[in-house]
Amino acid sequence: MPKTIIVSNRLPVKITQEEGKYVYKSSEGGLATGLGSIYKEGDNIWIGWPGMSVPNTENRKDITNHLAEENMRPVFLTPTEIEEYYEGFSNETLWPNFHYFNQYIIFNEELWKAYQRVNKKFAKEIAQVLEPEDTVWIHDYQLLLLPQLVRDFAPQASIGFFLHIPFPSYESFRLLPWRREILKGMLGSDFLGFHTYDDMRHFLSSVNRLAGLGNSNSRINVDNRKILVDALPMGIDYDKYESAASHPETLSREVRYRTGIGNHRLMLSIDRLDYSKGIPQRLKAFELFLERYPSFREKVSLLMIVVPSRDQVGKYKELKEEIDLLVGRINGNYGRMNWTPIHYFYRSFPLTALSAFYRMADVALVTPMRDGMNLVCKEFIASKLDKRGVLILSEMAGASKELSDAILINPNNIEQMVKAIKKALEMPESKQKTNMETMQRSLKRYNIHHWVNLFMERLSTVKNEQKALETKQLDNQYQQQIVNDYKAAKKRLIFLDYDGTLVGFNSDPLECKPNKELVDILTKLTTDKKNRVVVISGRGRDTLEAWLGSFDIEIVAEHGVWIKERKKKWRTITTLTDDWKPEIMKVLEGYVNRTPGSFVEKKDYSLVWHYRKVETGLGEERTRELTSRLKYATGDKNLKVLEGNKVVEIKNSEVDKGRAAQLWINNYPSEFIMACGDDWTDEDTFRSMPKNAYTVKVGNNSSAANFRVAEYTDIRVLLKALTK
Ligand code: UDP
Ligand code: G6P
Repeated sequence: MPKTIIVSNRLPVKITQEEGKYVYKSSEGGLATGLGSIYKEGDNIWIGWPGMSVPNTENRKDITNHLAEENMRPVFLTPTEIEEYYEGFSNETLWPNFHYFNQYIIFNEELWKAYQRVNKKFAKEIAQVLEPEDTVWIHDYQLLLLPQLVRDFAPQASIGFFLHIPFPSYESFRLLPWRREILKGMLGSDFLGFHTYDDMRHFLSSVNRLAGLGNSNSRINVDNRKILVDALPMGIDYDKYESAASHPETLSREVRYRTGIGNHRLMLSIDRLDYSKGIPQRLKAFELFLERYPSFREKVSLLMIVVPSRDQVGKYKELKEEIDLLVGRINGNYGRMNWTPIHYFYRSFPLTALSAFYRMADVALVTPMRDGMNLVCKEFIASKLDKRGVLILSEMAGASKELSDAILINPNNIEQMVKAIKKALEMPESKQKTNMETMQRSLKRYNIHHWVNLFMERLSTVKNEQKALETKQLDNQYQQQIVNDYKAAKKRLIFLDYDGTLVGFNSDPLECKPNKELVDILTKLTTDKKNRVVVISGRGRDTLEAWLGSFDIEIVAEHGVWIKERKKKWRTITTLTDDWKPEIMKVLEGYVNRTPGSFVEKKDYSLVWHYRKVETGLGEERTRELTSRLKYATGDKNLKVLEGNKVVEIKNSEVDKGRAAQLWINNYPSEFIMACGDDWTDEDTFRSMPKNAYTVKVGNNSSAANFRVAEYTDIRVLLKALTK
């Protein structure tokens, strides 16, 4: 049975050494707790680092055997790899960059090399267990190069990737000297998931700007492989936290803790030690709150859990000292014999302890400066069986996009945080309950199982789309079939689009004249008396006449406005008007004025706004604006507004390539019919063809054609094969 291979830097368990013995403990952090149960199913397996260096080979064997029983496979890292790949590039380069702490980034080529080496080490480990039908699910920023490394040795593999931290805006990401290599690594995936729409659009924008790849419907075409990107906020194991909240162990812990803390009201914060979590800012807000509202002194305490994390990294050590100082200062200034303002613990706790804390808290203070998602706030909500309690949540956490019934704050705004604390402590119970119920309903529905299923469903959707495209690929066998039918036919009709089909796209659309190769192809095709060759293009008739007039060829210009049959004059098929042009021209000129690099092409019965040379992204933005504006301007006229490859075209609605092609189909019955094209305007041609026709699409977008090729050069290969 096919299996799922989960790969993350850290395994869900970590080993530590106590009195010379290896001890296995659960790992902290959202990823480990989130995927906890999935890898245990069937033959699934989780590959990752067990959390410390193990120099002795015998010990490694024991650990490997022990973990194998639990469906895990360790990747052992040397002390240098831990320092350079994990603490270094992952946590001193990528982590600060992706969380917008760019002043903390260490740029160091050696760290980058170590990152590449360790990603390769993970790839080798995957290669040991990967079988053809398996799914590989790679997680997080420590393994951004891994998708492509797996793709290199398993081109057909099903590879999903999920990023658990924010993806930064292009302006932040571009600072990394290795940004292109990083993107290339990620684009090895078939499906890429992010927590929020913002992360996803930042990623798409970087892909567009740095790799020159656009997207349509969140699909990117990478080397003729379609990949999918989506926002997929991670949920929690809701039932687990809900039932933990009524577990006897939790309840007895609550009684014990209450005795220790006293009957004060309680605010709770739980984070890993991390500058992205905004712990000092939160402490300062609490201090200001106590200063400003003396009536709350001796009545409310902050229970602050900080879980040790990455303590060998310089910035984390500094943060720990800063927190210790702040807690000391606040407790020193405000503490009383019978009241401690902050109960501070620098260690991790088991689930039942966390659950007791969640139960006891009147308010959860979750105020990160940046956080991919933040699961603690979701766990707090799931643990509130009596539905009392208030969540104060930073709008910089991914979770804030789902939990709009929390009190949302900007962690840089200390005044706002102080007010939020007061508001939370004074919130009427009825309001607490309605807010809590709404959030609970949502978290119950979008739980961790929902997230996993959705991830797998999106991954298989894109794999199916890839397969559908594959079956239509014009391979050698199909090409030979076309050649055979061509040779056997006495009368042949061949429709060829021009730009993108016979020639490639040039940044200057006026520079697409046929070169020697194309001239040879067209000469051979048109001198064969059995052939009728129709170039069917959106270009104006003058250009087409100038470029193709010397061949014994037939031409459709302006998408079917003008036609020229063999040895006849240009004519229009229907009676058309162009009295709409001055008004629309005025609109388009306004856009040219505002958009450097764009220009308007005037054709007899259509106007085209071109934006190939416009700054990436701006042209697309203007197109959205322009098309919505044109919807109104053309409403009372018989016009169509069509978006093409870096163009917007306005033309009479009764004109399309299909209608023009129909004329030849009706007048010149032929045994062999073929149509080749690349964009949406050619879809009309494809649809107008009889059943027995061969239709060939250039490119990867969906199409009515029955075959597809990757590039215009493949069409040239096909045409050469016909005339050989
Ligand atoms: N956690 C834990 N032990 C602790 C404190 C926290 O296992 O003593 C867990 C907590 O329950 C949560 C995770 O660590 O599931 C933290 O995830 P979150 O997304 O909030 O932050 P991250 O650490 O991933 O940045
Ligand atoms: C965050 C990251 C995880 C990481 C966890 C704990 O949740 O997204 O990838 O495992 O923090 O950090 P650590 O460095 O201890 O693995």
